[in-house]
Amino acid sequence: MQNQINETVSFLESKGILQPEIGIVLGTGLGKLVDSIAISQQIDYVDIPNFVKSTVEFHSGKLIYGTLNGKKVLAMQGRFHFYEGYSMQQITFPVRVMKALGVKYLLLSNAAGAINLDYKKGDLMLIDDHIDLLPDSPLVGLKDDSQGPRFTDMSAPYSSKLNNLLKQIALKENLILREGVYAALKGPNLETRAEYRYLKIIGADAVGMSTVPEVLVANQIGLPCAAISVLTDECDPANLKPVNIPEIIAIAGQAEAKLITLYTQLIQQL
Ligand code: HPA
Repeated sequence: MQNQINETVSFLESKGILQPEIGIVLGTGLGKLVDSIAISQQIDYVDIPNFVKSTVEFHSGKLIYGTLNGKKVLAMQGRFHFYEGYSMQQITFPVRVMKALGVKYLLLSNAAGAINLDYKKGDLMLIDDHIDLLPDSPLVGLKDDSQGPRFTDMSAPYSSKLNNLLKQIALKENLILREGVYAALKGPNLETRAEYRYLKIIGADAVGMSTVPEVLVANQIGLPCAAISVLTDECDPANLKPVNIPEIIAIAGQAEAKLITLYTQLIQQL
């Protein structure tokens, strides 16, 4: 693992990716934040040693380096998912690389379904905590502790400093920022009505298929992180309609401007 990280870091540094301060992971339908970056380098994942190729066609699969509001940022336009068939260690490898390059904060985003029906499609939800229902963990099987403790503490997985700043920015910008618990499922199928009822009972406010693996690794390696879900559909078991993926992506795109406001202002303040 450490050798692979070193190899990827050397490759990225040789391409001029030096000392990024903030890492960003952009989820489904949420790639436009990169338009705010003054880009100095962009590399397709396929061209990066030890990265796997993203197979989801609406994820463009690029690592983008540049400055945003005066800070050096490294953004993943498109992430890897467990449902694509990769291992948990493969999908979280970029987070370890970011940390080794010098990243101090990790900002994540995703598209998610609203389990809490007080929340509406198009709303943003700041993830305050999560429930990991994934069938595997990126922390399983690591043989050395250079990557942090095996028994990683998860008492406060999301940085309260980052979350407080995001809440202040939302208030100032008059943006509704919901807060809640994100449940991560393996996918790629959507959930049944019975599963939506179950997720509500166990305390989830939103459901999706990503983010938690990256957050587990960020906590293991001591990288403070924040994550925002763009709620793209309402998971109402009493009125469930068949999933409409193009609509989910369109809603993500419409709500994206709010996410960009929150993250670009946060980056300025870090
Ligand atoms: N489940 C339900 N709705 C969703 C999801 C999901 O995983 N992702 C985006 N909308």
